[in-house]
Amino acid sequence: MSTTPESISPDASNPASIIGTATPRIDGPVKTTGVAEYSADFHFDRMVHAVPVTATIARGRITKLDASAAEQMPGVLLVLHHGNIGPLYRTVPGDDNATNSEVRSAFEDETVRHWGQYVAVAVAESLEQATAAAAAVKVEYEKEPAHLGARLDDFKGEPKVVSNRGDVAKAFDSAPVKVDATFVTPNETHNPIELHASVAVWEGDRITMYETSQGVVNHRAVMAQTLGLPLENVRVVTRFLGSGFGGKLFPWPHAAMAAVAARKLDRPVKLSLTRSMMFSCVGYRPRTEQHIQLGASKEGKLLALRHAYINVTSQLDDFEEGCGEATPYLYSVANLEVTGGIVRRHMGAPMYMRGPGAVPGLYALEAGMNELADELKMDPLQLRLLNDAEKDESNKNIPFSSRHLRECYEVGAKKFGWEKRTAGIGSMRRDGKILGWGLAGASWVALRLPCTATVEFCANGRLCVRCGTQDIGTGTYTIFAQVLHEKTGVPLDRIDVILGDSSLPDGPMSGGSMVTGSVLNAIASGAEKAIKRLQQVATSTAGSPYHEAKEETISFTGGRLHRKDQPATDGTHFGDILQLAKLNGVSAEGKTQPSWEDPKAKGVSLHSYGAQFVEVEWEPEIARMRVSRVVTVIDAGRIINPKAAANQISGAVVMGVGMALLEETIYDERSGQPINGSMADYLMATCADSPAMDVTFLNYPDPAMGEYGARGVGEIGLAGVAPAITAAVYHATGVRVRELPVRIEDLLKSKILEA
Ligand code: MOS
Repeated sequence: MSTTPESISPDASNPASIIGTATPRIDGPVKTTGVAEYSADFHFDRMVHAVPVTATIARGRITKLDASAAEQMPGVLLVLHHGNIGPLYRTVPGDDNATNSEVRSAFEDETVRHWGQYVAVAVAESLEQATAAAAAVKVEYEKEPAHLGARLDDFKGEPKVVSNRGDVAKAFDSAPVKVDATFVTPNETHNPIELHASVAVWEGDRITMYETSQGVVNHRAVMAQTLGLPLENVRVVTRFLGSGFGGKLFPWPHAAMAAVAARKLDRPVKLSLTRSMMFSCVGYRPRTEQHIQLGASKEGKLLALRHAYINVTSQLDDFEEGCGEATPYLYSVANLEVTGGIVRRHMGAPMYMRGPGAVPGLYALEAGMNELADELKMDPLQLRLLNDAEKDESNKNIPFSSRHLRECYEVGAKKFGWEKRTAGIGSMRRDGKILGWGLAGASWVALRLPCTATVEFCANGRLCVRCGTQDIGTGTYTIFAQVLHEKTGVPLDRIDVILGDSSLPDGPMSGGSMVTGSVLNAIASGAEKAIKRLQQVATSTAGSPYHEAKEETISFTGGRLHRKDQPATDGTHFGDILQLAKLNGVSAEGKTQPSWEDPKAKGVSLHSYGAQFVEVEWEPEIARMRVSRVVTVIDAGRIINPKAAANQISGAVVMGVGMALLEETIYDERSGQPINGSMADYLMATCADSPAMDVTFLNYPDPAMGEYGARGVGEIGLAGVAPAITAAVYHATGVRVRELPVRIEDLLKSKILEA
């Protein structure tokens, strides 16, 4: 059960404000009735189907690729591979507007660098024919010994220094109380409900790609570079997404495969991955090994903090997991060093996954802090409060824009009942079960990306907004409508939100929890400017009740223009004014200034914070561990839609249960094949694993985030869940697990044998 606040302190100066009011998704009806078109739902006349052929070795060379049998099969039109795909290009390194997932383009060479790498694609009239043809492509390989070892013990070279201050070695050596431990997170696979898919449609030398993309604007730029086309010849459409978790941030090679096949055949091509391909072709959260050293005084004051992490990456991609993201600013500590490094395996390219860097990084740091509290025989809550940072010590001691981590802990402790905790292992019981309680802190970066949105008042009485961002499923459509309703009074059902098309004005990617904070100001300013245009039309149109009135005497309330001295209900609806003026509509463009150009955001440290309180129930007789209750308090600036925001946090908490207890992609170390690469075998938290959840938002507007002060909530709810769970597991069982996920095999080591 999750608590969704109905309303969070709506704007006091505007009692009708929809900002901060729980608002159901405006796209709910089209989704629940099946009308919403996801990318793989697009169908076109003469459309054909493409099915990839994937490598069955982890490392080697293709010595022979024989497509002749496949090409003779019924309905088969084409088999593409290294020998015939023609030129595909890499994207320009360092071009932030064209970020790609993999360095190498599809079929670029005949070298195999991971199991599941695309080696060919079969195209046929039907999906069944293409599937059969793909299976009939004969590929011979010269195998080479692959490096697949899970343990990342072969890092060579100098680790990259991410952050440092003071003299950490000296401070750690002389600290009276220490924790020195290594924490491991495994490879995890993004499992959005919607499979990755591409539908490519050419018209002459222009292509429209219906894509599963978290960033249509970036996707267009990558495809233009990959295909060697001018940017204006590429259009990318993603009307709806069945989530992505980061796996759909940037294009993967299958998109270019579909595009080339469609061009060669002069027919629309649909390519949808299978679930099993998604375990090897479209990224994963890479395994991390993180060495944490904490030194403290006997009173619990942190003296030294060292965080050295390694993550796995592919042969060609320098993917850094960034586990040190939150470490440098979370605590006050004079001596700190954070370093990172990568090691290569014969695996596909990793990709950002919900809360990349900070989530696995905070798992290690917060698990370390919980161990330190145990070493000190101190309440882990007191340890956090004692070491809370007043300013960002990692960055010239700049102030935090808005940090209420202490309040998150205090509110959460109260709601959870933390003061009733007894410290002894296995000392808390309820209903014949052992209880374990744990907590941890959470943090996530905030940033405002540039955004342009066009707002149009239409003569048919509707209000329309257009923006080249997309809704990953979190409620972005609804946020647009809320801001427009707040600015204009036009009811939600007369507002059309048009997103998910790269031909719209450039909008931000659905990543980093940044969309909400990035789009709000553009929508608001577009609406304000469009209202000005309406006022100009009203005063300049012959026959208008406001003809030749001074613009400043005309107000706009509830969709009506009216004189300031006149009640709004006696005014004239904007649609009538536009019709009088013989205009189809008036529109205006609003822009969001990115935070790096905003003087209010420049000299401050911009992050969200949170606290997670977890209860587990342990039944030693049957080795059953269940997360029973989670209290989460989030400080993410002002909350625009508490309903959608609470959904994000509770969904992330459930994902955190999976991270702590279930999720891990396991590879066969001989072949590199994921051996649990299916929804049946890859364990994820389901409804039955979901705890009772209580989500609270502090709702302090962040002055560095513009008019609305919102920082975004997509990722922070996952941070801190896993270390709070492992602390609760230790409290219940006495078993210290430092490698996720916690397994039954770990729990069987518990010496507490009955409840
Ligand atoms: Mo998120 S991992 O930035 O989609």
